[in-house]
Amino acid sequence: MHQNMMEDIDHILLSKEELQAKVAEIGAQISKDYQGKNLLLLSVLRGSFIFMADLARAITVPLSVDFMSASSYGSSTKTSGAVKITKDIDIDIEGKDVIVVEDILDSGLTLSFLMGLLKAKKPASLHLCALLDKPERRKAEVNLTYKGFTVPDEFVVGYGLDYDEKYRNLPFIGVLKPEVYSK
Ligand code: IMP
Ligand code: MG
Repeated sequence: MHQNMMEDIDHILLSKEELQAKVAEIGAQISKDYQGKNLLLLSVLRGSFIFMADLARAITVPLSVDFMSASSYGSSTKTSGAVKITKDIDIDIEGKDVIVVEDILDSGLTLSFLMGLLKAKKPASLHLCALLDKPERRKAEVNLTYKGFTVPDEFVVGYGLDYDEKYRNLPFIGVLKPEVYSK
């Protein structure tokens, strides 16, 4: 990894400006849809932290925020769909209008499990907002209400998304040079 992360980037997929415009658009739509509701934005850590922070500021209706974290059991190649909650929500979501905020909807295994868990806590409504959607990789069906961009089946980093916990602070979404993975 270079000290200037830009040197590890092969190409930019979504620029800072494209991301900003999309976040503003989704924020405006949510502000319209959640008039008079009891909105709670629930961020799934860690990948969504930057999107969550920008989205919250693009929404004009009152809202509260909470955070949770989950990880898949066993090796990442296993597709059991079993998920461990590593940080649970702190706010009682019963009667709240919950939007789960995710960085990317990939296989959907983690999300479909999480959505089921949250539904059992009796929110007034439950929807999903994901900045990126990789439909080619889907293994579990998940309803995506608010979608930023559809992306090809390529590993992307930046704007919260990591490779080996790095690159989350890039202001755009990009694809790494192949040599970064082979090291
Ligand atoms: P899944 O939908 O259960 O497969 O899990 C999606 C999670 O995998 C996301 O929240 C990301 O943390 C991670 N992920 C999937 N694709 C990418 C990618 O292209 N770049 C970085 N992280 C990814
Ligand atoms: Mg990750």
